[in-house]
Parts: sequence; C-alpha cells; structure tokens
Amino acid sequence: MTMLLSHQIYPVIWQDPHVLLVDQTRLPHEYAVVEVSRLEDMAHAIKTMIVRGAPAIGVAAAYGMYLGAREIETNDRETFLVALEAVACTLETTRPTAVNLFWAIARMLKTARQTLGSVDTLKQVLLETAQAIQAEDLQTCQAIGAAGLAVLPKDPVQLRLLTHCNAGALATAGYGTALGVVRSAWQAGRLARVYADETRPRLQGARLTTWECVHEGIPVTLITDNMAAHCMQKGLIDAVVVGADRIAANGDTANKIGTYAVALAAKAHNIPFFVAAPVSTIDFALIEGSQIPIEERDAEEVSRIGDLPICPPGVEFYNPAFDVTPAQLITAIITEHGAFHPNELKAQLHDLKGLGSERA
Ligand code: MRU
Repeated sequence: MTMLLSHQIYPVIWQDPHVLLVDQTRLPHEYAVVEVSRLEDMAHAIKTMIVRGAPAIGVAAAYGMYLGAREIETNDRETFLVALEAVACTLETTRPTAVNLFWAIARMLKTARQTLGSVDTLKQVLLETAQAIQAEDLQTCQAIGAAGLAVLPKDPVQLRLLTHCNAGALATAGYGTALGVVRSAWQAGRLARVYADETRPRLQGARLTTWECVHEGIPVTLITDNMAAHCMQKGLIDAVVVGADRIAANGDTANKIGTYAVALAAKAHNIPFFVAAPVSTIDFALIEGSQIPIEERDAEEVSRIGDLPICPPGVEFYNPAFDVTPAQLITAIITEHGAFHPNELKAQLHDLKGLGSERA
C-alpha cells in the first residue's frame, strides 16, 4: 500500500513485517519513507519527530508495542507480560505531553493482559489492536471534520480559517483533526482559505500544513507566528481551529507552543477559537491544565533555522514545545462525538473514554 494515494495522506502504514513512516522531518523538500522493524527504532522515530502529532504518535506507539512484543523470546505468558511492561516503559519515555501515546500504550497492555492463549496468540492480537487503533483514528478524524463543519460560523459562507502547527493527516492516522475540519469545510464549499502559522521552532505549519493544503488544492496563506494578531485586526480571519496534545478535565488545552497567544488574540478580536481533538486526547485524570507535563526540547531547535545559527554564541535558550490555553478562551472542543463547551466535557464525555490514558 502506498502512503500517498491520490489525495489521501497516511503517515503510518503497516506493511508486513514492517511499519512504514513518512519522515516528517524531511517534508516538504523530500517525501521519504522510513522502514521501522524494531522497538528501538520506533522509539527513536517518535523522539526525533519523524512521526509527530498526538494521534499519529499514539498509532506509532501502538505498533511500537507490537514490534517490542515480537522481540520478546519466551513462550511463558507471565514472563511475556512482564517484558511487555518494559516495552511500554521504553515508549513512554519518548515524548511527555501528547496523552494519546500513553492512551495507546495502556490499551495495548490491557488487551494483552485480557487475552487468553499462547504468547503467539497475544502477539497476533497486539498487531490487530494496533491496526484497530489506526483504523478507528481515521474514522474519528472524519467524524471530527463533520462535527466541526456543523459548528463553524455560518457567516460568511466561505470562511478564512487560521490554524497553528499541523493537526492534519500527517499528525493522525489520516484526514486530521483541525485540518479535518478544514477538509470538511473545503469539501462542503465553506472554505475560502487557510491561514497557516509557520510554527517556530520546528515549522510544522510552514513545512507540513501548507504541504497538505497544496497537495489537495486548498488555498493556503503562510504567515509567521507574529502576524496572527495583525491578520485578525485586519479582518482576515473568521475562526481559528487548532489541534490538541492533551486536554484536562476542565477543558484547559495543551497544544503546540504559540497556541495560547493565538487564543488570546482571537478573544481580543471576538473571533471563535475551536480545539479539534479525539476523546483519546482528553485526560480526565487531570483536573486542570497546570498539571499537564510540558515537553522541553533541545536548545538547538531555537538557536538555528535549518543549519544556520540565528544568534551569536553565549546566548541561552528556552524551548518549551507546548503551552496551555485556558478553557475560558476556547469556544468549543470538537470531538468525534460532537462539539462541546469546555465546561461540558466531563459531564458529556467521561464515560465514553472507556480505555483511559491511565496505566491499567
Ligand atoms: O510537536 P508536535 O509536532 O508533535 O506537535 C503537534 C501538535 O501540537 C498538534 O497540534 C497536536 O498534536 C494535534 S495533532 C492532530
């Protein structure tokens, strides 16, 4: 199966006996595919952002669990389950913020524990569970797209939507969350244009969101991050749609660094600000956003653009990869079960979570 079939983009593909990943560090200059066969290589791919975006990280981690399970050499069920815990730990230390990683690992562990039969049976069921997580995410994104279309402002008919980072097909099993809403709006004739923040320091907006839009013929304008408020003031933006890495029970939302500033600017200009995310991104164990662990990445990411240093030696750097947007700045959280005001999340969705992000 190819990863780029007409308009469909799939960042993760199971091609027995390997996982294929689109190398997102090389886009848009090069469309390259990395073959991953070992747990260690999957952990590396997540850490180095070859695969990134909360739901895609979850799918990759699920396959990582299977690859790790495949490497366990025992026929003893209990020994296998203990070794599988170690596989889970390896994957859990890759990236701390996106809760989908922990959610997918917990689901894989729970499935293994609940499955009766030989170690070979358990391994097969783990592969099938990873495939199910992937297939479900694709359907979930399509449902988010439809739910988003229903809550977007009715006026004007053709909307100008701003997004930050990349919450597209590349960041999910396919289709996307925030870009899923964009795709649905485009297909329904309700989209005039996407404004994409470049998203320093990793440039996911510039490199990935514009690539997805160009690939599908969706009109897109790239702006630097510091232009978003100006564009709102000039009346160029009708609504903002972003993704999420982890949503606390009160609706506070962690997403790519810079999202909070966009939400503040949107509030100041009375522009609706939507978060689009699957229920698996909601962490009901956390009461509020201050409890969300925020990843800090290597200073190198801030100190250079491409290979070029952007400041003299002797400068110190701070590189938080995510920030938390308080719930009161969010108009609605769009999930596969519909759009909810942040205050309604717990009452409406808690029971649907089923397999939560907690380690079972
Ligand atoms: O560091 P990244 O590129 O993994 O961060 C991605 C984001 O912040 C996305 O907006 C989020 O994961 C949602 S992806 C559907």
